[in-house]
Amino acid sequence: MLDKINNIRAALEAATAETAADVEALRIRFLSKKGEISALMNDFRNVAADQKRELGQKLNELKTFATERINTLREVAEAAGAKADELDLSRTPAPVRLGTRHPLSLVREQIIDIFRRLGFTIAEGPEVEDDWHVFESLNFAADHPARDMQDTFFIRRSPDVLLRTHTSSVQTRVMTSQKPPIRIICPGRVYRNEAISARAHCFFHQVEALYIDKNVTYSDLRQTLLYFAREMFGPSTQIRLRPSYFPFTEPSAEMDISCDLCGGKGCGFCKYTGWVEILGCGMVDPNVLEACGIDSKEYSGFALGMGIERITNLKYRVKDLRLFSENDVRFLEEFTAAH
Ligand code: DAH
Repeated sequence: MLDKINNIRAALEAATAETAADVEALRIRFLSKKGEISALMNDFRNVAADQKRELGQKLNELKTFATERINTLREVAEAAGAKADELDLSRTPAPVRLGTRHPLSLVREQIIDIFRRLGFTIAEGPEVEDDWHVFESLNFAADHPARDMQDTFFIRRSPDVLLRTHTSSVQTRVMTSQKPPIRIICPGRVYRNEAISARAHCFFHQVEALYIDKNVTYSDLRQTLLYFAREMFGPSTQIRLRPSYFPFTEPSAEMDISCDLCGGKGCGFCKYTGWVEILGCGMVDPNVLEACGIDSKEYSGFALGMGIERITNLKYRVKDLRLFSENDVRFLEEFTAAH
């Protein structure tokens, strides 16, 4: 009996298993009802009474040893199996889901690209600004309504620290730090204290362009705008400039483009006018040039500013501004083909 116990123990110690099936075969051989250890248990009945104590203990030890040994072999085989799975080069790979670019990023890049071809370079400025760069230097009167708390998020009062309400502040940053000629395009996020709805948001995005040199004229502005509109919306696009007012430009204008939905005939989208408004622009007010240390007798320039959300809405008919910041993948995935 003792020999048999020792033999089984030796066999268990020597046993190896590569797969789960090998382990199962060992379990059946040693631990099942018809297995070798059960057979010993049956023989145990015939053991002389004076040996029962010692052999019983040895048998129990053997059973525990067999159970532990087989469990260990099972863990090793399973780990090896998982590793083999990882390396199974014949398996169909899991599909990799590509992300999509945000529609505002797509449109921003298109706008920048068009102006880059005209020689404009990118300039950036801080979103947290002071009153001088956002309002004062841009010729806003002290009591201009845009300075009101209703429109502007103030971080601190006197001296004022605020979130910029437009990217025109980057104009001033560049004009005070560089000498003309200046030809820059400034994309960026801006903030206004608006209740969030389909048509308004408390943050949105703008692109500003500024060109300062000797003898820059309104014709340069007009031609730049026409080029931009046709590159952005197609070669048959018409533009129209309506007189407007901005404190930092004189004269100022708003630009409309012919409605590409109805081809200018009039439809619900253009409110039956045939035109849709896309940006503000004008000749830089001499007061602004002087405030930034540029001689307004020697230099002139034009500026323009547009909302990226507005352009995106025109290109892709996104009706609700909130979609841009909700990160709903069903919305974002619609732009996969636009890359
Ligand atoms: N800053 C204006 C706004 O936020 C947009 C604008 C209008 C920018 C005319 C300009 C400009 O540079 O010339 O509504």
